[in-house]
Amino acid sequence: HPRVRRQRQMCIRDRYIDYAKGFFMSHIIPTPLFEKTDETKRVFIKSLSLDERNVNGSVKDDFYDFIRKLKLPVGNDVVVSFTHDFSLENEEYRLEVNEKITVYSSGEAGKVFALQTLKQLLFEYGRTIPFIAIKDKPKYKIRGFMLDVGRYFYPVDDVKLFIRKMSLHKLNFLHLHLTEDQGWRVEIYKYPLLTQIGSVRKKTNFNHRQHKGYYTKAQIKSIVKYAHDFGISVMPEFDIPGHSRSALACYNYLGCFERNLPVADHWGVKHDVLCAGKESTYKFVEDIVDELCELFPDKYFHIGGDEVPKHRWHLCPHCQAMMKKLGLNNEDELQCCFMNRINDYCAGKNKQAFMWSWDLKDDKLLSENLGFTKCGDINTGGRPFIDTSSKAYYIDLPYGYISLKDTANHKLYDGNCLGAEATLWTEYVPDMKKADKMTYPRLGAMCETVWRGENSYEQFHNKLDYYYSYLDKNRIGYSKLYFANPNRVLGFLQRIWFEKRQLTWEGLSNILDDLKVKYIAKKNSNL
Ligand code: ACM
Ligand code: ZN
Repeated sequence: HPRVRRQRQMCIRDRYIDYAKGFFMSHIIPTPLFEKTDETKRVFIKSLSLDERNVNGSVKDDFYDFIRKLKLPVGNDVVVSFTHDFSLENEEYRLEVNEKITVYSSGEAGKVFALQTLKQLLFEYGRTIPFIAIKDKPKYKIRGFMLDVGRYFYPVDDVKLFIRKMSLHKLNFLHLHLTEDQGWRVEIYKYPLLTQIGSVRKKTNFNHRQHKGYYTKAQIKSIVKYAHDFGISVMPEFDIPGHSRSALACYNYLGCFERNLPVADHWGVKHDVLCAGKESTYKFVEDIVDELCELFPDKYFHIGGDEVPKHRWHLCPHCQAMMKKLGLNNEDELQCCFMNRINDYCAGKNKQAFMWSWDLKDDKLLSENLGFTKCGDINTGGRPFIDTSSKAYYIDLPYGYISLKDTANHKLYDGNCLGAEATLWTEYVPDMKKADKMTYPRLGAMCETVWRGENSYEQFHNKLDYYYSYLDKNRIGYSKLYFANPNRVLGFLQRIWFEKRQLTWEGLSNILDDLKVKYIAKKNSNL
């Protein structure tokens, strides 16, 4: 189409002018470490294919899908070849476009990233690509995306789509938040009620319809395999001892007072949590960890630890006896010991465990080898952590709280920082359409930062038009700029819409509930 061609030429001329001024700006996101373009020489591609002996089926399909979107025929005019280069690091790659197209890597991940870069070059230049040499590798080891499938269940095909979208951004770490107050999402052979009962919530925040779903073991395996095909490892999260109402609804002995409570059907921090005093709780937790470790072979394992009100533990004879036995001063210390014990169990299975840094006030007793997903401004000590800043990377929050500018300007630290993770909590994200609106363009800014090690809104803004058009081509939804960097009025409205979550009876029912449990505790102690 002549208009498209004209735009493309404009684009190339713009690049040339920038280059002449010494401001060469590549549009590839995330920006490669090193790129050299010779605009005077070009390869014309009539049709394109991959040397298929060297790539797995998922990556091949993803690549061919995209070039079909570009209307570039799959064929043998130019064949992308792959060369093994031992001198490169695991995720490093080189991509050379001249008369031929060659990918150099030492592993599978490098190939995936090289092909993602090539997709962007084909998008930007069409069939006539200038000679380019790219040498690239990421700054941070963990570049993650967390999907909360607990609040809303996302079917297998959706999760695979998330994986492909992650790969587009050269992310390598999928964190699956699998258990929540509002739903248990993974089949466990030893405790069948977890999915029979625990995967169903009576209503959601949006409507009064039932919502349910879970992954069978076979489905989990297919998700993990698919992620691995794209060089992405998977960390399951089993959120304990809080956020466990779906488990308590199935096995009430896991709670301090064996109350019969339904799976939670509304947002809020629940006061009923796993009992930290009974050995039966630890047996349950270890059984679950065992079955999850069989499904998730990668190194990392998340054990939650966020938002654990201590109301029940304070009154529970089992918890109080445990505190006495361990010589602890308060319930926060009891949580430290709970987390440490599960962390030790995970370590025994060769896993690096993580917990949320969220709200433990007294964490002196917490093991130093227990990693943090760090969402607040907290001192992590010497422990390894993944930056999940709730001021930059909580991408479910309205743009009125976290604008694109905030995400792009967020700085990462060296040292014990393993990388960063964008977290998509799904209280208000029922489907992919809404997920896309919240995730993009913020994920583009975040992937720039964690791949390159630095970023700023000014730099990212230079690429934004290109990024939006690339998302369009990939049929990924997003929020437009006026919405992603809202003015004061719009930002206020976005926050109000979100905060309607506060308009519930939760606070009042918590008070009544606490009184009820106080009465039970008193009655029991008088027996
Ligand atoms: C969290 O935000 N509940 C980790
Ligand atoms: Zn207890």
